[in-house]
Amino acid sequence: MEHSIYHVLLFGPPGAGKSTQAEYLMAHWNVAAISTGKLLREQIASGTPIGLRVRDVLARGELVDDALMIEILSAWLKDIPRGKGFLLDGFPRTIPQAQALDKILNELARPLSAVIDLRLSVSEAVHRLGGRRICYGNGPDEIIHINDEAAIARCLERGGLLVQRPDDLPNVIVKRLAVYEAETEPLINYYRGRDIVHHVDASGEREQVAARIMTAVEGVEHSHTALV
Ligand code: AP5
Repeated sequence: MEHSIYHVLLFGPPGAGKSTQAEYLMAHWNVAAISTGKLLREQIASGTPIGLRVRDVLARGELVDDALMIEILSAWLKDIPRGKGFLLDGFPRTIPQAQALDKILNELARPLSAVIDLRLSVSEAVHRLGGRRICYGNGPDEIIHINDEAAIARCLERGGLLVQRPDDLPNVIVKRLAVYEAETEPLINYYRGRDIVHHVDASGEREQVAARIMTAVEGVEHSHTALV
């Protein structure tokens, strides 16, 4: 079966669900996906030179320097086979990163198909991030919310450890939201003239949000019930 090849950027404030949605979209589209935040956290966990360089930056909720991020993205994009699309979660985050991305995509002759602007209220973002815990150990990592008592019990029963991301502390959440508004939100205007920006409500169930994104990008109605 022929699959469309999508080249998609996922924007949205911290907590909007970029990484969560990237997983749904990867399962439905023929795309490679990268989460730059996840990639940086893996570098930190492994203690690599990049990890050591960026650890404090992430913990403060600030942005890593453009030169490093552009280098990482450029190498990743160049390795994607021509028959596959891509999904970027967390890049670009500044105007210089967006300009660099344009240059790379121009050279690769792979124009963007869609820019998804996930919209979420500050109060819901703070609720999601402030309550996020990661259950580590004895099985795959699981992301849970502290209000989800059943998930917490499951984690403890399997001997897991509940960990909070250092940048999910209250003062850092506030900083990340402010950095998004100042540095990244203006990128929506950067892309507006190209007629590829889709504003998507990021509230509600995960599957509902995924169906909204797929409907916007494909121009074909998707029902969230098919994704549950
Ligand atoms: P990054 O990891 O990208 O962090 P972020 O943008 O702050 O976003 P989050 O991962 O917290 O949120 P998300 O929108 O992906 O939502 P998620 O699906 O996780 O970046 C971290 C740091 O790396 C940056 O601060 C910066 O320092 C650095 N960095 C990364 N890229 C960079 C770049 N290009 N340039 C410079 N620096 C860079 O969901 C959040 C929570 O909500 C989860 O618990 C999830 O389970 C839950 N959730 C998701 N959807 C729903 C839903 N529909 N209903 C209820 N809960 C939901």
